[in-house]
Amino acid sequence: MKQNPVAPRTFSARVIVWQKQYGRHDLPWRQPEALEQRNPYLVWLSEIMLQQTRVAAVREYFARFTLRFPCVAALASAPIEEVLALWAGLGYYARARNLHAAAGLIMRQWQGIFPKTARELAALPGIGRSTAAAIAAFAFNERAAILDGNVRRVLCRCFAAEKAGEPAGKALWTLAESLLPEARDMPAYTQGLMDLGASVCLSRAPRCAECPLRAQCRAALLGRQEDFPAPKERAPKALKRCVFLCVSDGERVLLRRRPFRGIWGGLLCFPEEEADFPAVFAERLKRVTPETFSERAHVFTHFVLRYTPRIYWIHPLRGVAASDGEWRWIALEEAGKAGIPAPVARILKEMTDMAR
Ligand code: ADE
Ligand code: SF4
Repeated sequence: MKQNPVAPRTFSARVIVWQKQYGRHDLPWRQPEALEQRNPYLVWLSEIMLQQTRVAAVREYFARFTLRFPCVAALASAPIEEVLALWAGLGYYARARNLHAAAGLIMRQWQGIFPKTARELAALPGIGRSTAAAIAAFAFNERAAILDGNVRRVLCRCFAAEKAGEPAGKALWTLAESLLPEARDMPAYTQGLMDLGASVCLSRAPRCAECPLRAQCRAALLGRQEDFPAPKERAPKALKRCVFLCVSDGERVLLRRRPFRGIWGGLLCFPEEEADFPAVFAERLKRVTPETFSERAHVFTHFVLRYTPRIYWIHPLRGVAASDGEWRWIALEEAGKAGIPAPVARILKEMTDMAR
């Protein structure tokens, strides 16, 4: 007679067994189990895209990005504008700039061969400790611990670690490292932790009945799941206000490339200062009464931007130079395809509908 399989008893074994049966296996960046077939470029790209971004949002971007940039050499040799255009709408654009910079470094300093350890990966732009560990674990089976927001919640609950303090304190990193399985199990374990955090150990109403850790979870045993991790003290978000000056003749729209730093660095955006307009436009605008839309808000990690679109419909303006690198006078429909932030895309769509 067949014996019942023995229920796994260690933290990592529970996560691994659960991942194989119940975890996510349909992710396009999940590589074949055989080590030599795993592509660190795709693992890296997916982990960067997945930072603070849901899987559902990333799928489509990942597919388009890898079609255009199938390898690190293709990415490194592309102009940054094109990288930003493919990233447009995904948010946190510093990720795209760092990605491009890191690709350049990999080509020049590493002769196009991906660094193979978490320590070396963490030295590249845009790769923090947890992301470096995830890449090294998925691509090279390195025994390196991840500790993003989701994993932190699982660990704090399972071990009743109450300390708030820093987002991921030293003690939690030490705990995370002490739990690691053997090298060959690192991909399933790492993915399992992520999957648990995303689908079972939810921040509100965790599904403990479905959790492989429930027999050992301190918070669940105490019935105090929602007390862990202790809430961080949050400063209220700063508020910024601006006016977007949206100039169009019904066919084209005036956009300006932002400097390659700060929010939306390198993306095309509506100008904000009338004083900066190129002379042809400054002339026209004097004779137009703008239409002001209601204020809207866009929430960033550290602040809220409240922006008011002010629309200037001008008479058809043909024969004006399309671009001087900074300023672009481009077709309304085409503008939607360039690298633009989501709020700008929204306004462009409204303007396109109005111009019809
Ligand atoms: N979030 C961060 N990395 C992830 C991954 N590899 N799979 C699913 N969600 C993730
Ligand atoms: Fe989270 Fe509940 Fe699992 Fe504990 S038992 S790790 S609280 S889902």
